[in-house]
Amino acid sequence: MELFDIIKNRRSIRAYSSLLIEKDVILNLINAAGYAPSGKNLQPWRFVIVGNSKEKEQIAELSKYVSWLKQAPHYILVFLDNHLSYDRTKDIQAIGACIQNILLLAHAQNIGACWVGEIIEQGEKIKRLINVNEDYFELMALITIGHMKNMEIQQPIMRRVVDDNILLWIADEEFSENHSISTTLGDSK
Ligand SMILES: Cc1cc2nc3c(=O)[nH]c(=O)nc-3n(C[C@H](O)[C@H](O)[C@H](O)COP(=O)(O)O)c2cc1C
Repeated sequence: MELFDIIKNRRSIRAYSSLLIEKDVILNLINAAGYAPSGKNLQPWRFVIVGNSKEKEQIAELSKYVSWLKQAPHYILVFLDNHLSYDRTKDIQAIGACIQNILLLAHAQNIGACWVGEIIEQGEKIKRLINVNEDYFELMALITIGHMKNMEIQQPIMRRVVDDNILLWIADEEFSENHSISTTLGDSK
């Protein structure tokens, strides 16, 4: 798959089969996360992988998405390591980049995934459940992963057209004359 197709066709998957994902595949997702850019290359992320277990059930019970979370065979919990933090905004941006790496590689491998932010308000309870006691680990997201229940092609979701995303395009006159905003990549029109 072309990179832009992977980016464009990735969707949040919330229905899973009970098939497990192989350990090597999960490790590869975590490996991809680690290649994300981060301020000062501090790599302020840490991951906890949760497979079928009482802990997974208990985590699901803490969410309003309990029913579909229970279906997902694995969670990747994404923590910010505040010991490695130098600028909160930039560190959180790096966390977002590492999560996107996971989502894109998962999609490229036909693995369903969903970024779940709702659960972070339960971060302290989740840390107690999984015995992560250090204050400096802060839950940033839970990512569900698993094989999609229905392998049917996901419907595209509405996105703003590219022109609407561009607030300003500042360029010298020559550039403006010779280039118009290309919409071919995004099929946005
Ligand atoms: C920061 C963030 C938090 C999110 N939290 C949730 C969530 O709590 N529950 C959920 O079902 N989806 C969550 N999502 C997924 C979004 O709903 C989804 O990305 C968006 O609707 C666009 O759909 P798509 O991912 O299929 O393109 C979250 C996404 C992001 C980036």
